[in-house]
Amino acid sequence: MKKLIAGNWKMNGNGDTAEAFDNDMEEVLNKYSHVEWLICPPFPYIASLSNLQRGAQDCSAYDRGAYTGEVSAAMLADMGCTYCIVGHSERRTLHMEDNKLVRNKVKQLLSHNIRPIICVGETLEEREAGQAYEVVSRQILESLSDNITSENAVLAYEPVWAIGTGKAATLCDVTKMHGMIRDLLKSSLATAAKMRILYGGSVKPSNAAELLNADNVDGALIGSASLLHEDFIAIGKAVEI
Ligand code: 13P
Repeated sequence: MKKLIAGNWKMNGNGDTAEAFDNDMEEVLNKYSHVEWLICPPFPYIASLSNLQRGAQDCSAYDRGAYTGEVSAAMLADMGCTYCIVGHSERRTLHMEDNKLVRNKVKQLLSHNIRPIICVGETLEEREAGQAYEVVSRQILESLSDNITSENAVLAYEPVWAIGTGKAATLCDVTKMHGMIRDLLKSSLATAAKMRILYGGSVKPSNAAELLNADNVDGALIGSASLLHEDFIAIGKAVEI
C-alpha cells in the first residue's frame, strides 16, 4: 500500500483557497503518484476539491434523523469522500468524544465504504506518567470495530503534546510507539495487522524525510503545514520511492 499523505485543514480556509489549492495540486498528483494524497477540508469545502482525493474531518455516529448539525457517513459518501478522520484529540477533548462513540462512527463509515482514519494519542501528563502505551492501546482496542481490515481503515498516532506545538515527537518515540501499535494489531486484530499507521503532530518539510521513512510509519496526518501547498507537497516528496 502507498503511504498516505493526508491534510487536516481543521476549521481553516474558504471556498477560494480550497479551489486554488486543488488547482495547484493537479500536476503534483501525476508527478508524485508514489504516495496517496488526501485533503480533509471543512464540510462546506469538500466539493471544492476536484483533483484531490476528498476526506472529511468527522461524521455522525447515527444513520439519519433528528441530529441537528450532524453529517452522516451516507452524506459523505454522496460527496465523494473516500476517508474520514474520527476521534481526533480536538474532538475527544472539546466535544467529549469517547472510544465508544468513535467506534460507532467507524461502523457508520465502514458501512458506507469510507475508510476511517482513527486518531489515537496520549497527553503530556499521560506520557510523563509512563502511561503512553497503555492509553494508546486502550484507544485502539476500544475504537476499532470487529470488521476492520488492513485495507478498510487507517490509524493515526497523534501525541496530543505534538499537535500544533511545533514540537514533533522524536524519531525514537515515533518508531517505538508505531512498533508497539504494529505488535498490538498483529496479536489482537489479525485482520488488521498490516493497517497503515500514520504519524501526526507538527509534521513539516524539515522533519518529513526522517519521520516518513521510518519503520512502521505509513504516512502522515498533517495540520497547519497542509494549508500551504508548497509545504504539503514537500512533505509528500520526502517519501522515498
Ligand atoms: P499540526 O500538524 O498542526 O501539529 O496538527 C496535527 C493534527 O492535528 C493533524 O490532525
